[in-house]
Amino acid sequence: MSALFSPIALRGLTLPNRIMVAPMCQYSAVNGEANDWHFTHINTLALSGAAMFCIEATHVEAIGRITPGCLGLWNDATEAALKPILASVRKHSKIAVAMQLAHAGRKASSHTPWDGGQLIPVSEGGWQAEGPSAVPHKEGEAAPLALDAAGLKRVREAFVAAAKRAERLGIDALELHSAHGYLLHQFLSPISNRRTDQYGGSLQNRLRFPLEVFDAVRAAFPEHKPVGVKVSATDWVEGGWDLAQTTEFAHELKKRGVDWIDASSGGVSPLQKIPLGPGYQVPFAQALKEAVGVNTIAVGLITQARQAEDIVASGKADMVALARGMLYDPRWGWHAAAELGGHVNAPPAYWRAPPHEQKDLFGATTFGTR
Ligand SMILES: Cc1cc2nc3c(=O)[nH]c(=O)nc-3n(C[C@H](O)[C@H](O)[C@H](O)COP(=O)(O)O)c2cc1C
Repeated sequence: MSALFSPIALRGLTLPNRIMVAPMCQYSAVNGEANDWHFTHINTLALSGAAMFCIEATHVEAIGRITPGCLGLWNDATEAALKPILASVRKHSKIAVAMQLAHAGRKASSHTPWDGGQLIPVSEGGWQAEGPSAVPHKEGEAAPLALDAAGLKRVREAFVAAAKRAERLGIDALELHSAHGYLLHQFLSPISNRRTDQYGGSLQNRLRFPLEVFDAVRAAFPEHKPVGVKVSATDWVEGGWDLAQTTEFAHELKKRGVDWIDASSGGVSPLQKIPLGPGYQVPFAQALKEAVGVNTIAVGLITQARQAEDIVASGKADMVALARGMLYDPRWGWHAAAELGGHVNAPPAYWRAPPHEQKDLFGATTFGTR
């Protein structure tokens, strides 16, 4: 019996396996609105065999987009654009659909990665970013504006409004993006948060805004649907945010009913030194699970079925998330199930596809021709 292909319950959502397609920005939206690219991308990976697909960082207000091409959910047009995509997924796939709610903070107004990914100055068509403090991401860049009380309220309310729109779209779960140097992580890290009010300084103060946003989103989303949080477990910079502080954050989130912690790392400082290697962030998921007893998702250079199986079977994490591995092999879940003796759901039009030795890959399916 494969651990990776065993079910897991997250509140009222039961997933048939432990694989999530990690959120992946496509930088291909116009005015925050999804289009035919998102239709193709999401529908393709909805047939990956993963139990849950997490829609890319979906920004709760226009100035909170990383790039002009980032996806949003802040008005009727952005909501309407996602509707036919979700309808298609529901028609052809049983995958659960999560959405990552995000705000880029001081990392907003950037070029797309394929255009270099650097700050677009206001004089070149960019926009004024806002963050916890007037400290730029990179030395020499224009500083963001520090959010004041009205700004914090506006951002909190934008997260809530997006959560309500997500519910209207029938999204099954939310993940708050509190990683990779974006707004919520910027509040957590002493590198980006230099505030002297109740939102800065002590750890308790730096946790305050992300926890307020979590509470507000949790209260706005139906009780039976899960809400998880993606964290950077360390900044990989001396004197920055680290695993000990992440553990405190996870304790607070657990008290508030968080359904999973997705353990990533880095993103707040260009000075970071990341020791990349297979499964390099798994120890963070494991440490958080052991210290806090919270469900964790391991992510980062998980590419092999046996590697994923070992992570779940040995209790290091409850689930795995794959990003690049899924783009490389969009049937990763099928191939993992074939290797580990699991089953995946597939649409009837594909039921003739299992390998000869693995006829029951899709469970009890039948087809005939004449
Ligand atoms: C194209 C691309 C876009 C990404 N966009 C997001 C995103 O929107 N939100 C997020 O939390 N992480 C994002 N990531 C990071 C992944 O979710 C994941 O944490 C990281 O790539 C490590 O997993 P991997 O080794 O399986 O790719 C992105 C990664 C890629 C490759």
